[in-house]
Amino acid sequence: MELLWKSHMNMKIHAIKLVYILLLVTLMSSKVAESRKSKMIRSSFEYNAINCRAHSVSIKDFGGVGDGKTLNTKAFESAINHLNQYGSEGGSQLYVPAGKWLTGSFSLISHFTLYLNKDAVLLASQDMNEWPVIKPLPSYGRGRDTAGGRYTSLIFGTNLTDVIVTGDNGTIDGQGSFWWQQFHMKKLKYTRPYLIELMFSDSIQISNLTLLNSPSWNIHPVYSSNIIVKGITIIAPVRSPNTDGINPDSCTNIKIEDCYIVSGDDCVAVKSGWDEYGIKFGWPTKQLVIRRLTCISPYSATIALGSEMSGGIQDVRAEDITAVHTESGIRIKTAVGRGGYVKDIYVQRMTMHTMKWAFWITGNYGSHADKNYDPNALPEIRNINYRDMKAENVSMAARLEGISNDPFTGICISNVTISMAAKAKKQPWTCNDIEGITSGVSPKPCGLLPDQGIKKIKACHFPSDYLPIDMLELQKCSYSL
Ligand SMILES: *[C@@H]1O[C@H](CO)[C@@H](O)[C@H](O)[C@H]1NC(C)=O
Ligand SMILES: *[C@@H]1O[C@H](CO)[C@@H](O)[C@H](O)[C@H]1NC(C)=O
Ligand SMILES: *[C@@H]1O[C@H](CO)[C@@H](O)[C@H](O)[C@H]1NC(C)=O
Ligand SMILES: *[C@@H]1O[C@H](CO)[C@@H](O)[C@H](O)[C@H]1NC(C)=O
Ligand SMILES: *[C@@H]1O[C@H](CO)[C@@H](O)[C@H](O)[C@H]1NC(C)=O
Repeated sequence: MELLWKSHMNMKIHAIKLVYILLLVTLMSSKVAESRKSKMIRSSFEYNAINCRAHSVSIKDFGGVGDGKTLNTKAFESAINHLNQYGSEGGSQLYVPAGKWLTGSFSLISHFTLYLNKDAVLLASQDMNEWPVIKPLPSYGRGRDTAGGRYTSLIFGTNLTDVIVTGDNGTIDGQGSFWWQQFHMKKLKYTRPYLIELMFSDSIQISNLTLLNSPSWNIHPVYSSNIIVKGITIIAPVRSPNTDGINPDSCTNIKIEDCYIVSGDDCVAVKSGWDEYGIKFGWPTKQLVIRRLTCISPYSATIALGSEMSGGIQDVRAEDITAVHTESGIRIKTAVGRGGYVKDIYVQRMTMHTMKWAFWITGNYGSHADKNYDPNALPEIRNINYRDMKAENVSMAARLEGISNDPFTGICISNVTISMAAKAKKQPWTCNDIEGITSGVSPKPCGLLPDQGIKKIKACHFPSDYLPIDMLELQKCSYSL
C-alpha cells in the first residue's frame, strides 16, 4: 500500500518535472523565434519608388570600408560597373550600410537605385584629384565660378533613364568648407562641384535624404524630365557661398515636395541657361510643381526664378510654402541680354516670417556669362500670380522692377496680408516698368498695381488641373539583406 502510494507520488513528481521542462522548451523556442523574427525585421526594408529592382548588393561586397578614412571611390565604381549588366534584367540597387563612406565623384547608371541606410554618411573627399573635370554646360557657355570646366558632381549621371537616389534619411556630407575657402581666396581653377547632378536623363527620383554642406549647389537636374524630389533635408551655413538647395535647370515635369532647406543661397532656384548660350540652346524649364517647402535663407530667396532663364521658364506652381528669416519670398531675377521668358507662374498659400522683401522682381540683375550678350535680347516676364498669403515682420512688402521699354506684365497679387516690421522701410512698395492688378492686399500696393476692390479677391489664377508628374504612382519596394 505504502509502496504503491510512493510510486504514485514518484509518477506525479515526474509528470510535474515533464510539464516544467516542456514549458521551458516552448518558452525557449518561442524566444528563439522571436529573435529570429526581429532579426528579419532588422535586415529588411521598404520604400516607395518609381521602380523596384531585381538585384541588390552592398558596397561592402565591393571592398567598401565605412571608417570615414578609407577612400571608397573605386568601390563605388566597381560596384556600379558590376551592376550595369542588370539594366535589362530588372535593374539593380546599391545599398550603403551604416558607416562613414569617404568618396570622390562617381557616376550612376540607368535602371539603378543608390540607397543610403539611415546611419550611412557619404563623405565627400577633399582631394581635388577625386573630382574629374568636365566641360561647362552648353547652355551656360562657361563654369559658374570660373571660365573653364567644372568639377564633376559627387553623385553624377548623364544620358540615363530610371535612376533613384534615396534612403532612410541617410546623409550626404559635402564637407564644403574646404571648397568655400578656395572660392573666397579665388584659388579655384574650375567651377565647384554639386552634390547630385543628373544631365540628359529621364525618370529621376531623389528622396528621403539629408544633404549637408555642399561645396556649391545641392541638387541639379539639368536637361532632364519626369523628376521627383521628395523628403529632402538640406543644411548649409547661411553664409556659405552659392549653396542653392534644388535647381531644376532646363527640365520638364518636375515635382518637389516636403523639403526642408537652410542654406546660404536660394532654397529652390529655377533656371534655364545663361544669355547667348542659353538662348541658343533653347531648352526651357516647364511644368514644375513645388509643395510644402520650408526655407530659411537670410541672404537669398525662398523660390528664385533665374537669374539664368534664357531658355525660358513656364508653368511653375508653388503651394503651401513656408519662409522663415529669408531675404525674399518669390524672386524673379533677369537682365537685358538674357532673352527668354518667365511666364505662367502661380503661387498660393505661402506663409512668411521675418523677411526683407515678400516679393522681389529684378530686371537689372546683370551677371553676364561674357561681354558677347545681345543687348537687344530682352526677357519676357508675364502672367505672374500670387495669392492667399500672410507675411509678418517684413521690412519691405515688394520691390518690383521691370526693364524700361520692356515692362513686366500680368502681375496679379490677391488676398495677401503683409505685417510690417517695427523698423520697416517708409515706402512698403517700390514699382517701375511693371503692369498688373491687386485685390485684398495690404499694405496698400503701388499705383502700377491698381486695387480692383475686395470683390476680385480671387482674381489671381492657380491651375486646378494636375501636372503629368502628379499622375505617376510610386511602387512599394521591399528588400531583405
Ligand atoms: C520616405 O520615407 C517615408 C518614411 O519615413 C516612407 O513612407 C516613404 O515611402 C519614403 N518616400 C520616398 C519617396 O522614398
Ligand atoms: C547625351 O545626350 C545628349 C542629348 O541627346 C547628346 O548630345 C550627348 O552626346 C549624349 N552624351 C553621351 C555621353 O552619350
Ligand atoms: C532627417 O535627418 C535630419 C538631420 O538629422 C533631420 O533634421 C530630419 O528631421 C530627418 N527627417 C526625417 C523625415 O526624419
Ligand atoms: C523681426 O525682424 C527683425 C529683422 O528685421 C529681427 O531682428 C527680429 O528678431 C524679428 N522679430 C521677430 C519677432 O521675429
Ligand atoms: C485668403 O488667404 C488665407 C490664407 O492666408 C485663406 O485662409 C483664406 O481662405 C483666403 N481667402 C479667400 C477669400 O480666398
